[in-house]
Amino acid sequence: MRTPYTRAVDTPSSLPARGPFITLEGPDGSGKSSLLPGLAAVLRARGLDVVTTREPGSTPLGERIRSILLDTEPRIDHTGRADALLFAAARTQHVDEVIRPAIARGATVLCDRYADSSMAYQGAGSQIPMAEMRALQQFATGGLWPDLTILLDLPVEVGLARKSDEVTRFEAHHDLAYHERVRAAFLSFAAHEPARYATVDATRNPDSVLDAAAAALGRLADRWPALRG
Ligand code: TYD
Repeated sequence: MRTPYTRAVDTPSSLPARGPFITLEGPDGSGKSSLLPGLAAVLRARGLDVVTTREPGSTPLGERIRSILLDTEPRIDHTGRADALLFAAARTQHVDEVIRPAIARGATVLCDRYADSSMAYQGAGSQIPMAEMRALQQFATGGLWPDLTILLDLPVEVGLARKSDEVTRFEAHHDLAYHERVRAAFLSFAAHEPARYATVDATRNPDSVLDAAAAALGRLADRWPALRG
């Protein structure tokens, strides 16, 4: 009798050998960078190998591109399309050198911003057609999309007020309407992909935000039981 090969797909060995890829997204000042170490600590306390990283940056090329992208120097003339390509170039290197190797060895990757930021900022903010932005992300990442995206949502004015002491070009040169489009885009991505997106109210205190984000990790528990909490 022939071995029923198809059964293999139902066995535990068919669960992903790779680690989960989780991103944090949100408008400026939403508190992602403060949340990231706390969330990493929660996961490390469960014995997980956690890699924290951020965009733009995290590779030698990415850090150089970051300094061009965030520079407020007025002689650097930016267009949304040039920005989109620079973010994408940094992302390609980041995926190849950091994210894919980490998940391949089974680590959990927590990344501060990723492709969804390009779609929200360059797509909705700078009004580059979303289909073009999505195709660019597909090209840049080789089709690697997060298993879970935690969206820290808050009103634009609240976020920008929180960042008043740390001004990059994105806060300095973009008007309120730009940032409103960015926030609305994130909320619409979350509405269209409810299985991937978990939205957290970022106006709450940091402990409540951490609790809500940690609870959201439980969504991946079917594939990665250690994320059950
Ligand atoms: P950063 O100082 O890292 O801000 P934050 O803490 O809010 O992440 O600056 C990153 C800025 O770059 C931020 O305003 C969002 C913007 N950005 C894009 O416009 N497109 C992108 O693809 C990414 C990753 C970031």
